[in-house]
Amino acid sequence: MARSNEITLLIADDSEEMRETLKTLLTFNEKIRVVGEAADGKEALAKVESLKPNLVLMDINMGVMGQSDGLWATKEISLKYPQTGIIIISVQNEGDYMRQAMAAGARDYLVKPFDSDELFKTIEAVAERERAIWSSLPSSSTTVKEAGSGKVFTIFSPKGGVGKSVITSNLAVEVARRTHKRVLIVDLDLQFGDIALLLNVSPKSTIAHVAEMSTGQIDPEALELHISDSPYGVRILAAPLKPEYAEVVTPQIVKEVLSAVKGLYDYIFIDTVPNFGNEVLAAMDVSDEIFLVVAPDFLTLKNITLGLGVMDTLNYPQKHVHLILNRAQSLSAVRIKDIEKGLQRKILIEIPSDGEAVVGSINRGQPLVVSNPGSPVAKAIAELAGMIIGEENGNVNKERDEKAGKGLLGGIFGKR
Ligand SMILES: Nc1ncnc2c1ncn2[C@@H]1O[C@H](COP(=O)(O)OP(=O)(O)OP(=O)(O)O)[C@@H](O)[C@H]1O
Ligand SMILES: [Mg+2]
Repeated sequence: MARSNEITLLIADDSEEMRETLKTLLTFNEKIRVVGEAADGKEALAKVESLKPNLVLMDINMGVMGQSDGLWATKEISLKYPQTGIIIISVQNEGDYMRQAMAAGARDYLVKPFDSDELFKTIEAVAERERAIWSSLPSSSTTVKEAGSGKVFTIFSPKGGVGKSVITSNLAVEVARRTHKRVLIVDLDLQFGDIALLLNVSPKSTIAHVAEMSTGQIDPEALELHISDSPYGVRILAAPLKPEYAEVVTPQIVKEVLSAVKGLYDYIFIDTVPNFGNEVLAAMDVSDEIFLVVAPDFLTLKNITLGLGVMDTLNYPQKHVHLILNRAQSLSAVRIKDIEKGLQRKILIEIPSDGEAVVGSINRGQPLVVSNPGSPVAKAIAELAGMIIGEENGNVNKERDEKAGKGLLGGIFGKR
């Protein structure tokens, strides 16, 4: 068995000379122990099975493409032995092949030629990341016991550009900050997801990687490997890195992902696109509460009216669909009284318009609730977070409390 801070490593490369060079280089790092080697993908898979190394250094281009090459082995190992991290070794012009390997579950890559310093740094960084992920996971028995207990919130609007992503990111960060619980954002804006950028994350893996690896039911532990940390306490399952990768994420995958994350996280926030596509419906189906973002202009209000009609037809109970008015009091805005009258619904919360603060926070990749918690936008979002986590919140203005009454807070946590 490996000592706790030792990194056990398998070298998979079809060139014996390369394997020897790597082994020699690695003797200079006392944290790393080479436990085996393999000359093709099949042998690599068999050795991972018997040796259970922490990491595999995998030459992507071993012999003929297909059954026994590095890409094939990467897929197999990621699927069957997700606790073994894979670092791909490739040459300069294999960008496409390498992207496929990353999509198949590889954790990082080294491009030949590399020096020992680069080699050690990459191995140590991947090992460290894997260790952090696996140690932060609940044990599998807890996973099963608590499966499905996370609260799910979908942030939706039938109109684009109304602030869904800004609200989702800030709300999730605020809930994580206040509860210190496990909070996840799932970015279901599959073509143009913004959550990673808003939280200053460069995700190495995304929901497209999950889809590419999936062969049936999603294994929650394997799923966790595709979720990225952010600097702000929340974790994210990022949207695909390019619009063209979105199509691999089928509604079935979305359903499976959402059902799996409910067992892994306490609070799950889902950012969406402005239409009733299958992914959005899958999100709404598993949600405890749906936040509908409203902007104070007639075009948005027209779409909200239509959207509310669709949601009624689909039997989403009204008491779990809450209206959030964003950019309230902006110039020429429709008055809140008129909005409530027109929609025949109450607004749960008003978020003021503050272009300077919001745009500044977007450009810095720092949510407002962290960089400027005193700003009126951050305060309004904090108020909403307070409702979600059930705190008696000092920010809640009295008038609204009276208007909302206990029924509203009860509604937030009530069963659908
Ligand atoms: N309260 C606010 N005050 C001022 N500007 C805001 C506010 N909320 C959002 N914005 C601005 O509105 C723009 C759109 O925000 P955001 O990207 O969050 O909307 P979205 O609904 O997610 O859009 P999409 O439908 O394209 O995903 C951003 O440029 C942001 O700066
Ligand atoms: Mg968005």
